[in-house]
Amino acid sequence: MIDWNALFKVSLGLYVLGAKDNGRDVGSIVDAVMIAANKPAALAVSCGNASYTKSCLEKSKEFSISVLPKDIDPFVVANFGFQSSKTINKWDSVEHETLNGLPVLKNALAHITAKVVHSYPLESNTVFIAEITDTANLRDDDNLLYEDYRKYFKNDVIKAFQQQIKEKNNG
Ligand SMILES: Cc1cc2nc3c(=O)[nH]c(=O)nc-3n(C[C@H](O)[C@H](O)[C@H](O)COP(=O)(O)O)c2cc1C
Repeated sequence: MIDWNALFKVSLGLYVLGAKDNGRDVGSIVDAVMIAANKPAALAVSCGNASYTKSCLEKSKEFSISVLPKDIDPFVVANFGFQSSKTINKWDSVEHETLNGLPVLKNALAHITAKVVHSYPLESNTVFIAEITDTANLRDDDNLLYEDYRKYFKNDVIKAFQQQIKEKNNG
């Protein structure tokens, strides 16, 4: 039997995964990111198989990671984590710039870009191994952990999402 409370003790951060859908910017929230190797410097990212970002990543073979600070606006997590890039241009709603042509969040703690060299399909997810092509270390503040999200941040994210829907319906 798998006890998820045991697995949650494996520390993870929270990130915005950015990718390209032909010329369009797409992206999602991910926690399943790790430094997989230091030579060549490589990341592993695990994407749910239903994620549109995952399907784009399979084609374009490159992505960006924006490391989220603890004081991130909960809207950012709702925007990238609660809806699909298939029908929405998520990056239009947040301040961003580009690194190697890939979208990255302006108020992130760090930016990373990477090129996919392997992918491993599993039943629920696909794990991408990617060599790091560029990094920008922007600020040294604390990063948001997946644990923070589960313990106290999730309610704020849900509220921010509901507020966005309300504003859309009124506007
Ligand atoms: C806190 C949190 C953590 C998440 N972690 C992951 C993850 O590690 N991998 C993943 O593919 N999706 C993860 N998701 C789900 C995606 O962000 C979500 O399904 C998103 O809507 C996918 O958007 P897309 O269809 O534009 O790719 C997470 C969502 C949240 C809110």
